[in-house]
Amino acid sequence: MEGSEMIKPDLHKSETGVEYITVGDIRDLQQTDRTYLFHCTHARVALQFLTDSLFRFKLSRGKHALDLTHSRVIELAARDLQAEVAVSETEQAYELRTAALVVTVNKSPFALRVTDLHGNLISEDEANGYGWTKEHTIFTTKKAQDENFYGFGEKTGHLNKKGSLQSMWNTDIYAPHVPEIVELYQSIPFFISTKGTNVYGLFLDNPGKTEFDMTDTKRYKITCHSGELEYYFLSGASMKEIVSQYTFLTGRMPIPPKWAIGYHQSRYSYETDLEVRELAANFRAKEIPCDVIYLDIHYMDEYRVFTWHPTRFPQPDKLLADLRADGFRVVPIVDPGVKKDPKYLIYREGVTHEHFCKYLEGETYTGEVWPGVSAFPDFTNTQTQQWWGAKHEGFIKSGIEGIWNDMNEPAIFNETKTMDVNVMHGNDGDPKTHGELHNHYGLLMSKATYEGLKEQMDGKRPFVLTRAGYSGIQKYAAVWTGDNRSFWEHLQMSIPMILNMGLSGVAFAGADVGGFAHHSNGELLARWTQAGAFLPYFRNHSATRIARQEPWSYGETYEAVIKKYIEMRYVFLPHLYTLFREASVSGLPLVRPLVFEYPQDPKTHNLSDQFLLGDSILIAPITQPDIDYRAVYLPAGTWIDYHTGEVVEGGRAVVADAPLDVLPMYVKAGAIFATGNVVQHSGVQQDITFQVYAGNGSYEFYEDDAVTFAYENGAYNLLRLEQRVEGSTLTLSWTEAHSGYDSADQLTFTVHHEDGRTETHTVAKADGQLVLNR
Ligand code: GLC
Repeated sequence: MEGSEMIKPDLHKSETGVEYITVGDIRDLQQTDRTYLFHCTHARVALQFLTDSLFRFKLSRGKHALDLTHSRVIELAARDLQAEVAVSETEQAYELRTAALVVTVNKSPFALRVTDLHGNLISEDEANGYGWTKEHTIFTTKKAQDENFYGFGEKTGHLNKKGSLQSMWNTDIYAPHVPEIVELYQSIPFFISTKGTNVYGLFLDNPGKTEFDMTDTKRYKITCHSGELEYYFLSGASMKEIVSQYTFLTGRMPIPPKWAIGYHQSRYSYETDLEVRELAANFRAKEIPCDVIYLDIHYMDEYRVFTWHPTRFPQPDKLLADLRADGFRVVPIVDPGVKKDPKYLIYREGVTHEHFCKYLEGETYTGEVWPGVSAFPDFTNTQTQQWWGAKHEGFIKSGIEGIWNDMNEPAIFNETKTMDVNVMHGNDGDPKTHGELHNHYGLLMSKATYEGLKEQMDGKRPFVLTRAGYSGIQKYAAVWTGDNRSFWEHLQMSIPMILNMGLSGVAFAGADVGGFAHHSNGELLARWTQAGAFLPYFRNHSATRIARQEPWSYGETYEAVIKKYIEMRYVFLPHLYTLFREASVSGLPLVRPLVFEYPQDPKTHNLSDQFLLGDSILIAPITQPDIDYRAVYLPAGTWIDYHTGEVVEGGRAVVADAPLDVLPMYVKAGAIFATGNVVQHSGVQQDITFQVYAGNGSYEFYEDDAVTFAYENGAYNLLRLEQRVEGSTLTLSWTEAHSGYDSADQLTFTVHHEDGRTETHTVAKADGQLVLNR
């Protein structure tokens, strides 16, 4: 543990005296093919407009030529420079104008000022805000005292990151995650700034260590420990537009297989074939729905990846087939560390074909992890990605469709917790040190895994879960937030963490329900299951040598509540699936902080303990022990208590009744969403009922075969529904926006009227309309 020595006065020396070189003044502007290249006193800077409202900034220190190759995380579609730019020049500045933005580039000293077409200021650099010391490149921009910051991926603390310091360096943190810990497993150097109606986003594309210091009242400072300064500036009218642009730039998630959005059960570890069978049988006997069981490291032979333990799991194919017949998928863990053992084929192949990370001088880097001394694949090389991907063949033949990638920061049992920063990565012929590429390691391992699975799974959708990642991880994997603890504080913290991940492009995220380390208890597990049931990734996982955490571990009272909410997950599955599809096309997160939908309401700006599922279901989890009520903030509008049907006017806080079996939930009047009957796993076809909460509103319901990529060729349905209230009638109408998948030709609606009445109707899809009395 750290002592007071950590804060002794002479530890943090002043930076005065350190040589700081700035970009200086513009000497010349060169324009080639929509790239604006500014030759400055001490640097070159390129500006490129990818769209009217999205530009790239790249700096090269000194006189070096600027390398304008995009990094691997930028989507191909985004690389085309589409925007028309009009350039003009005054004595003081150049002006670059698109159909959405005006970027004024000050000549002396070089600095940017971004406004909209009406001259409203969006962002303004500090004078001499671009510079560097021997160690760091630094960028400072002005900010307002009341500016809000969101995003930054997987971070501790509250929703709004104003006044905070964030650091990007993927780190395996087993110690309790507290606000002071600013580096966790994922690094997403992207944020959204909002102030009044002004909103913009900034993506710093740098996989080395970077820091964002928002603590100053007048400016924020971004520091890069390696690499050249390169960022993308995203402007738009709303947070939604920024997230949509950010995911245009870095990619959107594919639609997951439906089973991956059901309930998942994990433990470090279910250690034997028998234990796994008993677990599965228990779920079915107790009729607690479950789609997935995880195998943590004990299934392997001395933790050698891609092996099975000969006595613990003597017949994996048989086990997997039996579980599959009972509706379970099995997801095994795969870590990057390959045991150093010349008798082990994967290690031998890796050495022979030069797949492992090495020092410049040629020696293979090794570090200690679960299997002992291990080598680490160099995922920066496409060939190594392909080699690793192909290694999943055995799993796939055994019927496995999902893989859990862990320890891929990479985590190593040493003082720095990771690989030596001087190890080299081949990087497909552009060698760089580990220090420069560290935050790409987990991303590229997940890419290798996802692509390897996809290639071999005959048109079925793979599922990958990862601990580490970087911008773009959403294209390959769901993310869980690592080793949390069974603390109420960690349940609290998981909510803003997952919400900010959604704002950072990672729509498919969740925390270990019940808490990983430390002993859980019935009440905590029940409350955590309630919250988890409405968060995108829903897995109960717990560590070795601590209290068991299966739904039935704490007696019947708790089991009943836990079962009820796992069942609720399945009731909401058709809606969740629809929202996942929306995330795949628009990049918008499934779960949203209230500020995302109600930005004009200042009460939402740092609301960290409640969230919206989609745009109209408000979830307010209980995150403290021994309470049976809580304050819930309802934004303006009419809301209906999901449990009681009571109509509540928003624009104020209400006190919700929340005995142990109640998770406070409110539905916005006008909402429509699809629900299903309770099933034991997602493979069972559900009967769909549209819940219609009287008012004006619309919904797009999505369905397909749930497991293959056939939807990419049109095998899906999209049903557009709309409700209008007028005088004494409620008119519900629908049209098939796309029809490519065979499904029920009748539709069932449960209409929740303003006076508390509900009525249910089943009608022919072909009818297209239903008119009811209010
Ligand atoms: C790491 C993971 C955890 C896993 C354990 C053993 O701590 O974060 O989820 O159970 O390793 O594999």
